[in-house]
Amino acid sequence: MHVAETIAQMKRLRSELAEPLGFVPTMGYLHEGHLSLVRRACEENASVAASIFVNPTQFAPTEDFEAYPRDTERDLAMLEEAGTDVVFMPAVTEMYPEGFSSWVEVGKLTERLEGASRPSHFRGVTTVCNKLFNIVEPTRAYFGQKDAQQALVIKKMATDLNMNLEIIVCPTVRESDGLAMSSRHVYLSPEQRRAAVSLYQAIKLAEELWSQGERDAERLRQVVTEHIRQEPLAEIEYVSIADMGTLEELETVADSALLSLVVRFGKTRLLDNTILQ
Ligand code: PAJ
Repeated sequence: MHVAETIAQMKRLRSELAEPLGFVPTMGYLHEGHLSLVRRACEENASVAASIFVNPTQFAPTEDFEAYPRDTERDLAMLEEAGTDVVFMPAVTEMYPEGFSSWVEVGKLTERLEGASRPSHFRGVTTVCNKLFNIVEPTRAYFGQKDAQQALVIKKMATDLNMNLEIIVCPTVRESDGLAMSSRHVYLSPEQRRAAVSLYQAIKLAEELWSQGERDAERLRQVVTEHIRQEPLAEIEYVSIADMGTLEELETVADSALLSLVVRFGKTRLLDNTILQ
C-alpha cells in the first residue's frame, strides 16, 4: 500500500493504478462502517484508493475540528488489511493553501435537516469531495447510507455538475446492539453509550408501525420522539420524515420516505436513519 501526502504524489500514484478505480473518502479514525465501503470498492474495482483528511471547512468554529479523534497508524493498518492500494493523506495547507477561495454549493437540499442545524457544513463537504474527485479521478466513489443527506447531496452534485464518476451508497454498519457505528462514539461516557441504543430502538418501532400500514408522518415522528424522550440523557435535535428526493417534510407517506434523526448526548450529536419503503 502506498501513502501520498501531496497532491503531486497522489496524481503520480494514480497514473499507475489499474482501472477501474474505487475511492473511499474518510476523515479517519476508522471503524467497520468505513471498512465496509473499502471492501465493497475492492469487490467492484481493479484498484482502490482511500483518503484520510479531517476537513476543516465542514466544521463550524464552535464544532469539534481540533478534538476530532485521530489515529493514523491504526487507520493505515486497517486500510492495508482491507485491500487498499493507495491512501491520500494531505495536510490542511495542501488542500487549502493561502488564498483558497472557490466553493461548490448544491443549494436547496443542503438547507434542510443537517444543513439547517449546521449552515456551512455541506459547502465544506461538497467542496472537499469535488477537490478529492479531481485529484484522485476515481471511476466510482463510495459513501455510507449512515449519512443519508450527505450521500444525496454528493449524488446531486455529481449529476448537476456532470462529474465523470459513479456514486455508490452502501448500507449502514451497526454495533451488536444496533447503534450505527461512528468515529464520534469515543466522546460518549459509558452511560451515554448505553443510552444511545434508544435511537435504533426508536427506528425499529417506526419500521414496525410502517409495516403494519401506518402512513401518517406525524404519528411516525411522534412514536420515535416519545421513545427517545424516555431516555433522560438524550436530547432530541430533530426527527424527520421526509421525501427521499427533495428532503421536504411529509404529512402523509406514499411509497417511501427517509426517516432521519439527530439526538445529542451531552455535546455529542448522533445521527441515524432508515428508509421506509
Ligand atoms: P466520515 O465521517 O469519516 O465518513 C466516511 C464515510 O464513511 C462516509 O461516506 C460515511 O457515510 C461512511 N460511514 C460512516 N459511518 C458508517 C457506518 N456506520 N456504516 C456505513 N458507512 C459509514 O463523511 C465523512 O467522513 C466526510 O464528510 C467526508 C465525506 C470524508 C468529506 O470530508
